Amino acid sequence: MSKVKFTTHHGMVDILPDEVKKWQFLERLIHGEAEKFNFEEIRTPIMEQTELIIRGLGQLTDIVSKEIFSFSRGDDNYVLRPELTAPVVRAYVENHLDQRGGSQKLYYIGPMFRAERPQKGRQRQFHQFGVEVIGSSDAVADAEVIAFMVNIYDKIGITNTTLKLNSIGDPESRKAYVEALKNHLKPNFDKLSDISQKRFENNPLRILDSKEEEDQPFIESAPVITDYLNDESVAHYIKVKQYLKDLGISYEEDPYLVRGMDYYTQTAFELISPDLGAQDALAGGGRYDLLVEEIGGQPTPAVGFAAGMERLLIACEELGIPLGDEKTVDAYIVTLGEEARSWGLSKLPELRKAGVSATMDYMGRSMKAQMKDANRENALYTIIVGGNELQEGKFTLRNMKESDEGSYTFKEILEKLVSS
Ligand code: HAM
Repeated sequence: MSKVKFTTHHGMVDILPDEVKKWQFLERLIHGEAEKFNFEEIRTPIMEQTELIIRGLGQLTDIVSKEIFSFSRGDDNYVLRPELTAPVVRAYVENHLDQRGGSQKLYYIGPMFRAERPQKGRQRQFHQFGVEVIGSSDAVADAEVIAFMVNIYDKIGITNTTLKLNSIGDPESRKAYVEALKNHLKPNFDKLSDISQKRFENNPLRILDSKEEEDQPFIESAPVITDYLNDESVAHYIKVKQYLKDLGISYEEDPYLVRGMDYYTQTAFELISPDLGAQDALAGGGRYDLLVEEIGGQPTPAVGFAAGMERLLIACEELGIPLGDEKTVDAYIVTLGEEARSWGLSKLPELRKAGVSATMDYMGRSMKAQMKDANRENALYTIIVGGNELQEGKFTLRNMKESDEGSYTFKEILEKLVSS
């Protein structure tokens, strides 16, 4: 009988220990930078009510119509969160976070789920970090959200990026634009791709995002949304650009940039990298001034972004940027005989309590094999213990990098390791 082989689901990957080090490094960086920006972390459940995601993102968006993992249990509908803007807004409304006063500057890190066709930089379980600033209509909030995003990539050394910026206006401006866009496309409706023909009635703005070749001539000649913005939308957009300049952040205006969710208003942006291939968006976001009300709260303006962590790691790989340190352990206790093993085991807690990372053999191996294992584990020091050492009360401390050693009491060893 052949053995059963289990695998992960398509588009879902294990993050193995060597990779996890990079993730931990990145997560520490995000937490540290968020603290500098005075953003607070929020953690919400992995599953939400399906209706929240439909209402929040829009029934006709690709995510809702094709990509959500959902199931029901009893009377409840569950969805694995495909993003965190709608869930964070739900948490804001449900927990009355407005009562904390001021605007809420929230950030998050975690897994998201979208049933997309997997390829490089596109998975079915992937991870995002992101920020949502809820309660401010000020363009300073837009600029600071973008600054946080750009700052993370700068810190890591991913600098060959382009920040694409657009304004899709408020609903009034967008209505005027959508009409102009449809008038422009209508005479050539038959020449549009199937998908764009489908979007024509329901979601014409998304046609601008089409990658289909036959759509390109009509997109290139399309009217631009920035010509249709009303005074209020223009004023906001001008301020965002001014504040980005004040922050020293360069951007490229792209009047055809539209985003994949229906909740966006005014500012829209994406951070693009040439090192990613087809999936070239490192991060994206924008303002969503109507979402809090849509989800049952008081009218509350908000802005945010989210970034794909796998894509950030791919960019690092392409650019040869190492993340995190090589794995090491401060001390490896090498023992000969059962008595020495007991002694070693009794010293591990003392070493760890003093802040020294420490380990020993778990497999009853020979001394030679233990030394080999200590090398494999990148031990900085080995503490070598046998019968003689136990009798004398002095143990060999070997510096593995410099290959020199000496004989010391355990107290001396502890002092040396703590100060090294
Ligand atoms: P999004 O553009 O759908 O926006 O996703 C943000 C980023 O997540 C993308 O730029 C990409 O790096 C990454 N990403 C998306 N899908 C995948 C995937 N299948 N595999 C790997 N990475 C992926 C949002 O999610 C909005 N919630 C952003 C936002 C926050 N807007 C306002 N606040």
